Amino acid sequence: MKGVVLAGGLGKRLEPLTRITNKHLLPVYNRPMIYYPIQTLVEAGITEILIVTGGNNAGDFLRLLGNGQEFGLKHLDYTYQRGEGGIAEALSLAEHFAERDKLVVILGDNIIEQSIRPSVERFTAQPQGARLLLKEVEDPWRFGVAEVRDGRIVSIEEKPKAPKSSSVVTGIYLYDAQVFDLIRTLQPSGRGELEITDVNTAYLRKGQLAYDVLEGWWTDAGLPETLYRATTLVRERELKRQPAHRPTREALTSA
Ligand code: G1P
Repeated sequence: MKGVVLAGGLGKRLEPLTRITNKHLLPVYNRPMIYYPIQTLVEAGITEILIVTGGNNAGDFLRLLGNGQEFGLKHLDYTYQRGEGGIAEALSLAEHFAERDKLVVILGDNIIEQSIRPSVERFTAQPQGARLLLKEVEDPWRFGVAEVRDGRIVSIEEKPKAPKSSSVVTGIYLYDAQVFDLIRTLQPSGRGELEITDVNTAYLRKGQLAYDVLEGWWTDAGLPETLYRATTLVRERELKRQPAHRPTREALTSA
């Protein structure tokens, strides 16, 4: 299985932070945002990774990440999305890279607490189709909302005014090679973009859409409020793992 990090877009919801740089290069606690989705893939055992970027400062990704040595990788692939064509259009640029392998796709601003390895393993065993990771949230109208009945997803609506449930589709998607043919059938939405929710609905119509519920916390980081939340959650996790992150008076005065 291969991995794709979608890190394009203009990040308009974070203006003016994103006026002179790409959203995914902004800091989340002690690392640039894009480090977290890459780490999520690497922790799940994915070693072949494509970064799809776009907008301003695309070259900075190369300077920052190089060949991914910091993540224990030998190589990273990069590609560039022109304009604001949407998440599904960004994903279509991964067709050449995928070489008909199954893919784990992660949005560059999605940060999670725990490993997705169990879902990746289940998807390896899944004969075909797609697998989504769902999570209960308090503000489902901001996301793709999944309606689940008898253990099956029966509908997905993108940012509905009246959500049918509080279960939302996180920005981590597992797809088989059919995804690129399905993207070719899509029409742009009202906002002129190819929507990832339409890709998922296409799998749903084929009866090939499975899901897991994501364990641990999950947040996006695309709004001032959620960028702040991401920083807080990552900080708490880091302090738990390595209490030395909290600088002591001795460490500061001897520096
Ligand atoms: C996108 C998707 C949405 C999904 C969300 C997860 O929304 O369109 O379905 O729930 O990512 O972060 P965006 O944040 O790009 O508006």
